[in-house]
Amino acid sequence: MAPSTKPEENMLWGGRFTGGLDPLMVEYNESIYFDKALYKEDILGSIAFARANAKGGILTEEEFAKIEQGLRAVMQEWETDAFTIVPGVDEDIHTANERRLGELIGKDVAGKLHTGRSRNEQVACDMRMWLRDRLREIEGYLASFLRVMAARANQEIDLVMPGYTHLQRAQPIRWSHWMLSYGLAFAADLERLRETIRRVNKSPLGCGALAGNPFGIDREMMAAELGFDGLLWNSMGGVADRDFVHEMLQWATTLMLHVSRWAEDLIVYSTAEFGFVRLADAYSTGSSLMPQKKNPDSLELLRGKSGRVFGRAAGFAMTLKGLASTYNKDLQESWEPMLDTVKSVADSVRIAEGVLATLETRPDRMRQALDPFMLATDLADYLVRKGVPFRETHHISGQCVALSEKTGTPMDQLTYEQLREVDARFEPDVAACFDYEKSVEMRSAKGGTSKECVLEQIRVLNEMLDAKA
Ligand code: ARG
Repeated sequence: MAPSTKPEENMLWGGRFTGGLDPLMVEYNESIYFDKALYKEDILGSIAFARANAKGGILTEEEFAKIEQGLRAVMQEWETDAFTIVPGVDEDIHTANERRLGELIGKDVAGKLHTGRSRNEQVACDMRMWLRDRLREIEGYLASFLRVMAARANQEIDLVMPGYTHLQRAQPIRWSHWMLSYGLAFAADLERLRETIRRVNKSPLGCGALAGNPFGIDREMMAAELGFDGLLWNSMGGVADRDFVHEMLQWATTLMLHVSRWAEDLIVYSTAEFGFVRLADAYSTGSSLMPQKKNPDSLELLRGKSGRVFGRAAGFAMTLKGLASTYNKDLQESWEPMLDTVKSVADSVRIAEGVLATLETRPDRMRQALDPFMLATDLADYLVRKGVPFRETHHISGQCVALSEKTGTPMDQLTYEQLREVDARFEPDVAACFDYEKSVEMRSAKGGTSKECVLEQIRVLNEMLDAKA
């Protein structure tokens, strides 16, 4: 016989309720189908709570042993897919675990587990533990992606390609310089992540429903057992706080904005028109209609997921906005953005690493895309070094560009005489301006395109990777 869904008979809080719930309300209210992902954290949190209550004399050692053993058996059931959710009864993971514990060890002892405890602290505790561990994994993925980037930047430091502003050819750069422009942004994301993890990893256990614990529970002991770095110091704040979710979502948004822009550049660079890179088959797909197509789906999905992550962050900020203090059921809405975003980000970073690790660069195509006009600034700078004011040299170089366009002669092939006609201060050494390698080497102030500068960026990146929070 299916268990009753009448609150008075079954629900944890059934004591004061008399009528049954609207069946749709049962469904609307339950979170078990997504918060079951945290069965393990919930059980470990319960064991820590029971242990602390045993220390405080609320549970005998014998009762604690029974509870712990029972909870471990419940965990085993989850792990072997043997746990059966009772629809309409197992409202959330906390309820489900406690229901099952009662069945396994008897309600007399199981019924003591929740002494002084509220699901409000429990849910916050579970989420923080889970998120901390997932973010540490993501930290590893991100570092690994950046190691690939640093290695490539080092290996391919001699590749020169056009740098763009407004997606128009601007000045020559090193391919590695392009990579590191994102690499350093991602490294800042890594720093932010480490900082975020520190704030996520604080324990709310012992905060009660909102006012704290009446049995003098040892909060530090529970925090230490669960691997927290410290406590949340106000019980009301402790149960109300979803800043840790909000902060993670904001962090993920920033990261995904970088991922998205990085992907967009590579999508452009992989077109036939640019052809600077070729995506490995492992990260491309074909067209069902056009046999010749090879599409950069991995990069498009990276770009696409960023919208989804931002949407989650914006939506959740709206959920939090205007909530009265401490726990409100609206907070149950923190789970899905958290679960979904963590998955999107973890997968995206690993896909990005795969794409980058297998990407083929095409130095010939990069070189072909360089255009002597991209050295017009170098030409102006040449005259600056001869003492001509930049405002003037900019104009002179512009005249050379016009001459080149008018005569159909590439700028680097204008004769010395033609240049002299534009300005008599050009000297034979002007020919040396038209050299892409030289151009990138000239930009040797820190952060520029010279080899020395790019190597320095790689060092900085590696230091950021190695730094611990
Ligand atoms: N499922 C709930 C959540 O995720 C657990 C906390 C319920 N607390 C309460 N006072 N109803 O937020």
